Amino acid sequence: MNRFGRMNSSITADTFDVQKIRRDFPMLQQRIADGRPLIYLDTGATAQKPQAVINKITECLEQYNANVHRGVHALHERVTGELEAARAKIGAFLNVRELDELDQLDDVSEVIFTSGTTMSINLVAQAWGRNHLSPGEEILLNSLEHHANIVPWQMVAAATGAVIRWLPLTTTGELDLEQLDAFLTRRTKMVALTAMSNVLGTITPVREIITRAHDVGALVLVDGAQSVPHMPTDAQALDADFLAFSGHKLYGPTGIGVLYGKLEHLEAMSPFLGGGNMIDDVFDDHSTYKRPPFKFEAGTLPIAEAIGLGAAIDYVQSIGWTAIHEQERQLLTACHAELSKIPGVTIHGPDIGHKGAIVSFTVDGVPAHDLGTNLARHGIAIRASHHCAKPLHRWLNVDATARASFAFYNTVEEVQALAEAIRQARKTFRLPG
Ligand SMILES: Cc1ncc(COP(=O)(O)O)c(C=O)c1O
Repeated sequence: MNRFGRMNSSITADTFDVQKIRRDFPMLQQRIADGRPLIYLDTGATAQKPQAVINKITECLEQYNANVHRGVHALHERVTGELEAARAKIGAFLNVRELDELDQLDDVSEVIFTSGTTMSINLVAQAWGRNHLSPGEEILLNSLEHHANIVPWQMVAAATGAVIRWLPLTTTGELDLEQLDAFLTRRTKMVALTAMSNVLGTITPVREIITRAHDVGALVLVDGAQSVPHMPTDAQALDADFLAFSGHKLYGPTGIGVLYGKLEHLEAMSPFLGGGNMIDDVFDDHSTYKRPPFKFEAGTLPIAEAIGLGAAIDYVQSIGWTAIHEQERQLLTACHAELSKIPGVTIHGPDIGHKGAIVSFTVDGVPAHDLGTNLARHGIAIRASHHCAKPLHRWLNVDATARASFAFYNTVEEVQALAEAIRQARKTFRLPG
């Protein structure tokens, strides 16, 4: 085991060959905008999928498509085995506890399949929040959060009388830890925070906040939608109570995501959705429920997608965090350097030492949406919007930002093409310099 949990690198930074890696991704071979090569700088919205993931999904649909956990025929066994192998892979990837070793808890798992981060957070807000929040108790948020980690808490606050408080940001777009003591009190019951901002790229000090939250008896939900695909995540070392992420941002399919939760919390929660697969028994007037994870997996799961997510994790592990980290650092450094040279460009958020490979910026005199459509003519895909983070844009005092978000499959040449296209867009808008 290395310091990143159970994940071992098979490609070192020296042997990392980005052109070879790019050949694993059919989408990156696409030509768009009058035959120009696609320059995909929108991984923060969704990542491209390697052939290995596409093949695994096809294999499932062609060779062992059946429903899981029900029935007795051979296909059930095969598909259930594949699904549970994917769950185990996710558990190892997040370094969650091995419950069967602990307590012979064969069928019990802390890894729940959901449809994505949004669903995972809604599950906790409803299934935990409704039973554990009382009027006047507090949920601590901050303005870095994606709407997926704000709106569910507003909904449960409205239902329970709980109160949302907002930890301020520093001028650089980081959490203001000096004010944390004033906001973390015995009234705080839940701290919900992103490990990495989808707009500013800010990496938050999750471990420290979890320790301090636990000191006052609060639980912590970590939104790992942006962090899990770009850095090692060790649920046990973090001591997170809940952690959510989406398969599609981790080079896997859409429609599948994960909620990790400590077993003791999951056991104390009511189910979120009712239906097939989650019950022990059903009577006329009540039902009894299975233990986690099945208690929270009502209905038919996105089976091929879950199995595809397992293949995505295999793929990421075959590259390894060292190579991923070094490539993404290089892209981030190049992007900050190139964009800083362009007159009128403001990069929002912290310096590169405190962020992941996401760069949100504005260009004086060029509205973000216009910039986005201008770049699209060069085959460059970025995102231009509020990125589902309206409170953060209000804090930034802009309606929208342009966002380039990178993955290990991007190249420094693509960063240079982005900078050149921004210069041309400025010329189109007749801006000097
Ligand atoms: C930080 C963060 N949280 C939550 C989400 C929501 O993810 P999903 O739409 O996959 O549920 C996103 C998506 O962009 C995100 O970036």
